[in-house]
Amino acid sequence: MEQYAIKGGNSLVGEVEIGGAKNAALGVLAAAIMTDDMTVIENIPDVRDINVLLQAMESIGVIVYRTDRHAVRINASMISGLVIEDDYIKKIRASYYLLGALLGKYKHAEVALPGGCNIGSRKIDLHIKGFKALGAQVKIEHGLIIVDAQQLKGAHIYLDTVSVGATINIMLAAVLAEGKTVIENAAKEPHVVDVANFLSSMGANIKGAGTDVVRITGVKKLHASEYSIIPDQIEAGTFMFAAAITKGDVTVKNVIPKHLESTTAKLMEMGCQIEESDDAVRVVASKRLESTHVKTLPYPGFPTDMQPQIAVALALSKGISIVTESIFDNRFKYVDELAKMGSNIKVEGGNTAIIEGVESFTSAKLTAPDLRAGAALVLACLAAEGFSTVEDIKYIERGYEDFEIKLQRLGAIIQKVESEKELTKFKLRGVS
Ligand code: EPZ
Repeated sequence: MEQYAIKGGNSLVGEVEIGGAKNAALGVLAAAIMTDDMTVIENIPDVRDINVLLQAMESIGVIVYRTDRHAVRINASMISGLVIEDDYIKKIRASYYLLGALLGKYKHAEVALPGGCNIGSRKIDLHIKGFKALGAQVKIEHGLIIVDAQQLKGAHIYLDTVSVGATINIMLAAVLAEGKTVIENAAKEPHVVDVANFLSSMGANIKGAGTDVVRITGVKKLHASEYSIIPDQIEAGTFMFAAAITKGDVTVKNVIPKHLESTTAKLMEMGCQIEESDDAVRVVASKRLESTHVKTLPYPGFPTDMQPQIAVALALSKGISIVTESIFDNRFKYVDELAKMGSNIKVEGGNTAIIEGVESFTSAKLTAPDLRAGAALVLACLAAEGFSTVEDIKYIERGYEDFEIKLQRLGAIIQKVESEKELTKFKLRGVS
């Protein structure tokens, strides 16, 4: 089984190029099937979740030409089925975007219930509420969500919880509905705006994306477009924390610094120096980090997808920090893994972690519990002297392209190994 072998102790130094945002690309690719014209989508990351979504699209007759590693041309004029139930689609959460996209275009869709990282209960009631408000009937049968409508009509929809997925999904269905839709208490994440911008580039009429009220006026049809996905704020943030955790000096390039403000603010509170330019952010960490408190919140608050990374940094800082997770109810599973390295973290009530910083971690054999926690554990290993391993890296590969290669370029000693023999070789090489 593939795992990462890591020899920690090096400070990461250098520049890293950030790829396109996975969570924006998932919404944009689903939106691309809403026109019969050809769309060209660039800057998509080559990660497992994206490839699974593309495979699901192909399974219903969408033609996907991979023009290079990061670009696709999509022709959805010959969709032959509206049922997506293959096993692989259950592995990703974003399969639900195909419901909104197909419902909008064909007024019918049947998609297997979504899977995704096990980070707590991940409901879809708000997606369903939105579809119903637009006039669809929704049933769950035999593990499939079935949505069907004679006609979709614009509606006023209030989201009881701020939800990225529900906001995007309702937007997808509403752009081809008749009349006006208003989504209140909408999510404001950059990827919501990116999907709205892409839909607008195809002729949709959407106002207010990026604020908490999104207004959509339905159009009859969408047309061809060429679009480039925004940079991935979470990949960027992960490398910024890699600099902080290893007392390094890393410049993340090809980013939108505005999208990184909450991450930047926390790193500064922790004593890092930050330099921003138009499309890059440099993080320099020359001394032991300071403690701080953080609560995850919808954008522009501190992202839940950065919670494990900041917790690893705080676990090495001076003093006591409190991390409050307010989005998901099971996102501290990595704490038991981190304990193997000598960290001192107590989780109370399921959503609060009290962290007493330690001076250093010891090496350990770890297992990635989910995507972001997996990446955070790799960063912890990079800070620990000696040899560590991280298993179940399939989770990390869902959302980080060439993670170990980008880390190697910054001076990390890390390698993907497939067998005990390769691990032994890595250790022998690392020692010499
Ligand atoms: C998206 O998940 C991201 N996934 C997640 O990224 C990210 O953690 C999350 O947004 C929050 O930013 C994708 O974009 C594919 P939500 P999503 O709907 O859409 C509750 C990663 O690591 N809720 O914004 O599933 C829900 O339980 C992944 O890249 C309902 O109550 O998240 C949660 O508490 C992990 N009813 C809150 O809303 C619903 O119908 C926010 O969830 C939907 C959600």
